[in-house]
Amino acid sequence: MRHIFKKGTNEKKPVLLLLHGTGGTEQDLLSLAELVDPEASVLSVRGNVLENGMPRFFKRLAEGVFDEEDLVFRTKELRGFLAQAAIDYQFDPLNVVAIGYSNGANIAASLLFHYADALKGAILHHPMVPIRNIPMPDLTGVPVFIGAGANDSICPKEESMELQKLLEEAGASDELHWEHAGHQLTTTEVQAAKAWYEQTFR
Ligand code: MLT
Repeated sequence: MRHIFKKGTNEKKPVLLLLHGTGGTEQDLLSLAELVDPEASVLSVRGNVLENGMPRFFKRLAEGVFDEEDLVFRTKELRGFLAQAAIDYQFDPLNVVAIGYSNGANIAASLLFHYADALKGAILHHPMVPIRNIPMPDLTGVPVFIGAGANDSICPKEESMELQKLLEEAGASDELHWEHAGHQLTTTEVQAAKAWYEQTFR
């Protein structure tokens, strides 16, 4: 997968896996990572799927309706990519924290829904429930920050709460942060995610 790896100055810090939104690239979230943890290594990936020229991490049938077969395939592909990247760039594959926005948050959530040890934690900006009715892995001790918009037309409020519930039932410890905004990523949400990260990964 097309990507950028930037080695951090402190190898004890998590490796930040950056996953952009629809139509984004591996450049999009670099400044966000810099803000959340300037010392951490960064692995920023571009989604392998193109929708009318816009990169995404998996196919969808319509807005908010995911192609589940492709989602499962792409989730496995990303997991394989992470394992290889850990070898190539010599980082601990168990020390990866995802930061995803929108479609990128959805593939990060899908990694959590499918694999117990793919992510050490995750910051999900405006995620949806990636898939339903699958057996969840044991996510005990995996911290997750969910940033949601009370007026998000792409992800309704109920779906953010459903995602929180599913993650909690699987054992994850999560924080659901609400913004009085829509699907966009606001400065206050980023600040809340940074505060959560600092408290969680001190
Ligand atoms: C998705 O397709 O992953 C969601 O609808 C969010 C987005 O528009 O990317």
